Amino acid sequence: MRKPIVAGNWKMNKTVAEAIDLAESIKRDLAACQKVDVVLCPPFTALSAVGNVISGTQIDLGAQNMHWEKSGAYTGEISPEMLRDLFCHYVILGHSERRQYFGETDEIVNRKAKTALALNLHPIVCVGETLEERKAGRTNEVVEKQVRGSLADFGARGWLESIIAYEPVWAIGTGLTASPAQAQEVHALIRSVLQDISDEHVAKSVRIQYGGSVKPGNAAELFGQPDIDGGLIGGAALDASSFIDIVLAAQETA
Ligand code: PGA
Repeated sequence: MRKPIVAGNWKMNKTVAEAIDLAESIKRDLAACQKVDVVLCPPFTALSAVGNVISGTQIDLGAQNMHWEKSGAYTGEISPEMLRDLFCHYVILGHSERRQYFGETDEIVNRKAKTALALNLHPIVCVGETLEERKAGRTNEVVEKQVRGSLADFGARGWLESIIAYEPVWAIGTGLTASPAQAQEVHALIRSVLQDISDEHVAKSVRIQYGGSVKPGNAAELFGQPDIDGGLIGGAALDASSFIDIVLAAQETA
């Protein structure tokens, strides 16, 4: 049985004071949440403050990106060691916004993920097709290529420590959600690709989140699908009560 995992991707939102407020409100309801892994991913500038708020609770801290080297001359970048230093346990990698606006490729994502794993950070590796790709009937081909490229050569331990987030690009921040059946189909495909590159145990054990306009109103049905193990939440994670309701929907399926 896979434990659901719900992560809030706050993207480039919230000052430190706002981030503390949001984390405090979420903590009030979810501090002792056992059945779902709850992860907050504030911007880098608020990691330390949010980490302090959730310290000693069941809620974990995650970052939204990192560099692939542990340290060095990379002006403006943040290293995985720095994230560990702030008690991050997760890091989102290869989000479609990073792929689209910052040129991240499967190769870069793979490199980052391997460094993350070496430092005991769980990578949340994002994959997903654009609207054009879906319309052209290329969804499976695109997602399979991303999974094979981004998650190449992790080894069994690495795969088991990783999370995959299926996020159709056309559903992110648009209010359009993949139907539960559409999402389930791609999640099942991802599991079959995992089986091909690793083995059945890995394929059955890795948690695959759905992301893209998840809201309290559609979360239960999405999370009720057999291969969907929680969600990566953007817009709705910026509102404490929406995020809490989404976590509670995941708890129902646990
Ligand atoms: P959304 O974003 O929930 O606002 O669609 C999801 C994501 O980008 O992770």
